[in-house]
Amino acid sequence: MIGAPQIEEIGGHLAVRAGADPPPAWDLRIDAGEPGWDADPARLRHAKHQALMRAYQARYMLLPDDAGGGSILRRLRRHYDPVEMARLEVLRAGLEAELIAPMVEAARQAAAGRELAAYAAALLPELRARPEDAFTAWLRTNPQREPHYRNFLIQSSADLLAEASASALGVVGEFGAPQSALFRILIDEFGYGAHGRKHSVLYRAVMRDFGLSDTYNAYWPFFDTAALELHNTIHHLFQNPRNFFLQVGFLLFAETTYQRSTRDHARYLREFHPDVDARYFAEHAHIDLHHTRMVIDEVALPLVATYGEEVGGEIVAGAELTRAAFARAGAHMLAVSQAFEAAVAAGLAIYAPPDLAPLGQAITPTSGLENPAARIQVGGLGLVLGVAAFAAFPAGALGRIAGAET
Ligand SMILES: [Fe+2]
Ligand SMILES: [Fe+2]
Repeated sequence: MIGAPQIEEIGGHLAVRAGADPPPAWDLRIDAGEPGWDADPARLRHAKHQALMRAYQARYMLLPDDAGGGSILRRLRRHYDPVEMARLEVLRAGLEAELIAPMVEAARQAAAGRELAAYAAALLPELRARPEDAFTAWLRTNPQREPHYRNFLIQSSADLLAEASASALGVVGEFGAPQSALFRILIDEFGYGAHGRKHSVLYRAVMRDFGLSDTYNAYWPFFDTAALELHNTIHHLFQNPRNFFLQVGFLLFAETTYQRSTRDHARYLREFHPDVDARYFAEHAHIDLHHTRMVIDEVALPLVATYGEEVGGEIVAGAELTRAAFARAGAHMLAVSQAFEAAVAAGLAIYAPPDLAPLGQAITPTSGLENPAARIQVGGLGLVLGVAAFAAFPAGALGRIAGAET
């Protein structure tokens, strides 16, 4: 198990590598090292997930929005310094073993003995027969929809502002006809090279229309532990070629479930936020029908035909891992929204968009603080008034101390 001193040490290196006032694309900081931070197991776990996220994001080509802040070349070389990157990579396998491997193991058990062809054939009818997405169904009954949807957009932005970059890592190489099918899905995700149709660019438009920054990684201080866990689970698959068949299972489940959940979101936005650019969701509700068929017919089944049912079991395990990861993240987000709503009803919280300017201290519901009256920003929702009120939030929630009390 990776200990707090190792996380604190790598946190120090990451902060130096990020430099003072880094642009979000090159911000590598994690929340470790403040006095007493490691006394709270939830904070330590959060910092470990942040470190893992930094390791994964370092594989992406990222550029800041502008050249401000000194020589761009010098900063680029520092951000992608191979010696410093290797320092974090040394911890990566240990972090994955601790944070992700238990979930993979549970998924393999859930998949044991299931045959891929039957599993794939049953998946789409099963997901289509589901009731509406629990979050949008709940929002329909809620007069305070905007802050909750804002938080959903922020928590999901960890992945979606660089959508399909994780799965792109599973496409390079040489592995026959399934590779070309995966590449065709990938170029859809990237809008066939038309920048305005790239899925992450469509996602940016939704964020802007909710008054949010559309800069990749701008909201990292407000990602809660559950959001990082989902991000890191997906990246664990695609950044390890040994997980190739789990990757296919991820795509099978994600493309199949996404066509359904994005339809719910497209309908919800049309009804309650008709002025918002909802093309991101409408596009997926359509194109993921095709992606599902491509994953099944051109990737998963041919791989099983070539390599046998052993790999079919691994593909089902990847799908079940994805089902569990999505379900956990979705249930957590709804629980945080509901906890926030209860705090508002009790006069212990107010809705407010997050302020990106100060990087206040991160706390969890179990942290405790010297100042019990501190105001705590919870994701995109708003301010919880006091540590005692935040203690009632579900495990995996993250708050950040807001500026001076007013
Ligand atoms: Fe997409
Ligand atoms: Fe897709």
